[in-house]
Amino acid sequence: MESYSRLRWLVFLTSFVIFALQVSLAQAPPQPENIETHGTSFLDHETPISQFWGKTFLKENIPFIEIPDKTIQDRWSSLQRHLRYTVAGTGYILTEFCQPVGYAQALNTINAAAGHQIDEARWLRSKFYVDDYIQAYTRGPGNTTQYTHWILDALYRRSKVDGDKQFAINQLADMARLWHEWDYTFDMNAGFLPGFVVAPTGNDQLQYDGPDTYRPSLNAYMVANARAIAAVANYAGNSKVESNFTLIGSNLEAAVNRHLWSPDQQFYVDVIRPNNPDLKPISGREEVGLYPYRFGIGLESNHSGAALALFDPQGFQAPLLDQTILTENFQSWPFSTAHILKSLAAIYRGPNLPITADQYVQTLSTYAGTQQKNGVPYPFEDSWSSDSSNHSEHYDHSTNNDDVITGLLGIVPQSNNSLLVSPIMPKNWTYFAIENFAYHGHLISVLYDADGKRYKCGGSFCVFSDGKQIVSKNPASPIHELISLDTALISSGIPVNIAANPNGFGYYPMANATYTFYADNPYKAIDGYLFYDDIPNNRWTNYQSKSSNDTLQITFARPRTISSVTLALYSDVARGGGKAVGVCELEVWTPPISGPTYYAVDSLLTNAAVVKDAAASAGSVVGQLAIESVVAFSGIESAGGTVKLALSYSNNGSTAMNIDVKVNQVRQITLSLSGTKGKYAIEIVTGVNLEAGKNFVTLLGGSSQLRIESINI
Ligand SMILES: *[C@@H]1O[C@H](CO)[C@@H](O)[C@H](O)[C@H]1NC(C)=O
Ligand SMILES: *[C@@H]1O[C@H](CO)[C@@H](O)[C@H](O)[C@H]1NC(C)=O
Ligand SMILES: *[C@@H]1O[C@H](CO)[C@@H](O)[C@H](O)[C@H]1NC(C)=O
Ligand SMILES: *[C@@H]1O[C@H](CO)[C@@H](O)[C@H](O)[C@H]1NC(C)=O
Ligand SMILES: *[C@@H]1O[C@H](CO)[C@@H](O)[C@H](O)[C@H]1NC(C)=O
Ligand SMILES: *[C@@H]1O[C@H](CO)[C@@H](O)[C@H](O)[C@H]1NC(C)=O
Ligand SMILES: *[C@@H]1O[C@H](CO)[C@@H](O)[C@H](O)[C@H]1NC(C)=O
Ligand SMILES: *[C@@H]1O[C@H](CO)[C@@H](O)[C@H](O)[C@H]1NC(C)=O
Ligand SMILES: *[C@@H]1O[C@H](CO)[C@@H](O)[C@H](O)[C@H]1NC(C)=O
Repeated sequence: MESYSRLRWLVFLTSFVIFALQVSLAQAPPQPENIETHGTSFLDHETPISQFWGKTFLKENIPFIEIPDKTIQDRWSSLQRHLRYTVAGTGYILTEFCQPVGYAQALNTINAAAGHQIDEARWLRSKFYVDDYIQAYTRGPGNTTQYTHWILDALYRRSKVDGDKQFAINQLADMARLWHEWDYTFDMNAGFLPGFVVAPTGNDQLQYDGPDTYRPSLNAYMVANARAIAAVANYAGNSKVESNFTLIGSNLEAAVNRHLWSPDQQFYVDVIRPNNPDLKPISGREEVGLYPYRFGIGLESNHSGAALALFDPQGFQAPLLDQTILTENFQSWPFSTAHILKSLAAIYRGPNLPITADQYVQTLSTYAGTQQKNGVPYPFEDSWSSDSSNHSEHYDHSTNNDDVITGLLGIVPQSNNSLLVSPIMPKNWTYFAIENFAYHGHLISVLYDADGKRYKCGGSFCVFSDGKQIVSKNPASPIHELISLDTALISSGIPVNIAANPNGFGYYPMANATYTFYADNPYKAIDGYLFYDDIPNNRWTNYQSKSSNDTLQITFARPRTISSVTLALYSDVARGGGKAVGVCELEVWTPPISGPTYYAVDSLLTNAAVVKDAAASAGSVVGQLAIESVVAFSGIESAGGTVKLALSYSNNGSTAMNIDVKVNQVRQITLSLSGTKGKYAIEIVTGVNLEAGKNFVTLLGGSSQLRIESINI
């Protein structure tokens, strides 16, 4: 405690006004929507997380699992580390790398593995993490053409976990738009998509390089994306969209089976594009040929036998001849293995059963081993390729927990109010338990206990919902039980963190301090990243300060009323420097901004700045605008429909300025803002279309003579 005493932190409002600090514990930090619900406690909920930091998050968000194979450990702390708070209104995203790489896109998102990330995060008890992340792609600035993706499929399958069909229905128009983003790259003659992305301008110019082949991966993703749109259209009762996308999915699947399935090799393979008018498949099996099954392709036919190649000494298990080839080319890639595990599970549960439970569990266990560094790595050698610090330690590019929950334990989410439990369990397993996973608004526990002595729940198979037992029986093996559940409502209204600043030092909200250790920066206290490490390498600290006290100050762009403050503190005494203290993250929570007024100074600014202006009601506005300026509002809740937008601005020029209004990534309207001689005026436009849920409204353009105060919507 003593180490904290030298820190005085101050949450200041702005240089202009000082506000009254109101603290209400109910508002922070965001807790799961169903925090009042209690589950069961058969397992120890303390010891498994005792070596981790951020225990509150873990306790409130993860299911506890017990299985006989101890290699298969959970990876929740890794997922936790990748949650980044971006900006109020946009909320959380999942990063791929904690330290941004050069090719990361808006807010440090990378869409390549977003499908895996959604699959993983769908099991967090708090729904808002993955809701926010999905909307960063469906409505926000996430780049959905940087890499090929199955985000729409993941969105739909996620709706089967939380049971929130309305959230998915709200995204239906966005899903169709994201699908059509790929139209220009679709090869109409071949009937499917090439492995690279052609620039929208055409002329064979590449937007993103890739193999000049038709691949089983992308085409399977797109079948799944089309079917996800059809399924969500079905939720919405929109039969036209449903039948269109059902047809698109079927045609694409047929093209995959016609051209990418090699009867000779009994495997899905690539088809090289250039000089190959007959679309002859290549010779040589690659792991990517096993991706389609997890998306439901090839399961009904006799194609699923291809998976046996994974376990074949003449196939993927072949001993390697050349050590140099081995180190370069034969490695495990978590992104790919995560797909393969889901394909194996789909094949196991499919109509043909060419693989065994032991094979599945062995693959999963080996994969878990590869996630260790100095343990027992797989497949061939004790080294990681491309292992570099600040890069490889936390690489959120695959799934781990989802393969245990849905893969192994067989918690198979359903779109109606039921739950299928169909584990892929080796014969010699006598028990397993998964406790308190969030499902359709409930907390569910599933216990298997062959002789009934371990959990003593009155049978070999028991299910609990919100702590109440709903099943106790001795089912035949293998277990395959469909369980009906009550309807439960999920409330929302998650607080927002108004201190988070994704833009960097020097932007609002601003962090500065009376002293900062030379290797750190006050900005690190509000950058939205919280590293749960022994020594969190992302903090403000007064290590080696010579003063008796130091102040960390957060300055907001306008006066704010706040509900509560969360401090993630680190005692910097460990470095041997007296009584220094680090602030890993400082979060300031308020209820969600409910409008109708949204201040421009709270939005995410690019090529624009917060400027003081006594003539404006909030005392500050957005200025220093130019042609390429972006003023991005987010979190504008709506029931959907056509609304009126009122923009408060001033223009001290004599000519009118045009501003484009983009809603959820679609340009809708151009506003003509006439001269106001520097006074604030309101420009009203009608016919702005919002979607149900959280909207992103972006203003584009401007000039140095223009200032924007707020929008009212
Ligand atoms: C089950 O059998 C497999 C294969 O023999 C073995 O590797 C594993 O350790 C056994 N597991 C248990 C829980 O007995
Ligand atoms: C998405 O990423 C690709 C590849 O880096 C780039 O060409 C494209 O301009 C990006 N799109 C957006 C909207 O940022
Ligand atoms: C369905 O597809 C047809 C033909 O491609 C298209 O004209 C129509 O607009 C689509 N309808 C919907 C609701 O998407
Ligand atoms: C099963 O495989 C054989 C050999 O590749 C093929 O001739 C046959 O059409 C396949 N059957 C189905 C239902 O796909
Ligand atoms: C990791 O990145 C942080 C932030 O960019 C930097 O301060 C730190 O020195 C880096 N550490 C290593 C070992 O490269
Ligand atoms: C849910 O759907 C499954 C099939 O997908 C069906 O067998 C079951 O009866 C349905 N359950 C409820 C509660 O509607
Ligand atoms: C932060 O910067 C402001 C403006 O320059 C200054 O008034 C304030 O004293 C600084 N705060 C701290 C804690 O150094
Ligand atoms: C903090 O230090 C300043 C001078 O460095 C001193 O004036 C002030 O009284 C100190 N405040 C506390 C609470 O110790
Ligand atoms: C408008 O205001 C800006 C910023 O204060 C100033 O640079 C510019 O000269 C003004 N223009 C006119 C026409 O008054």
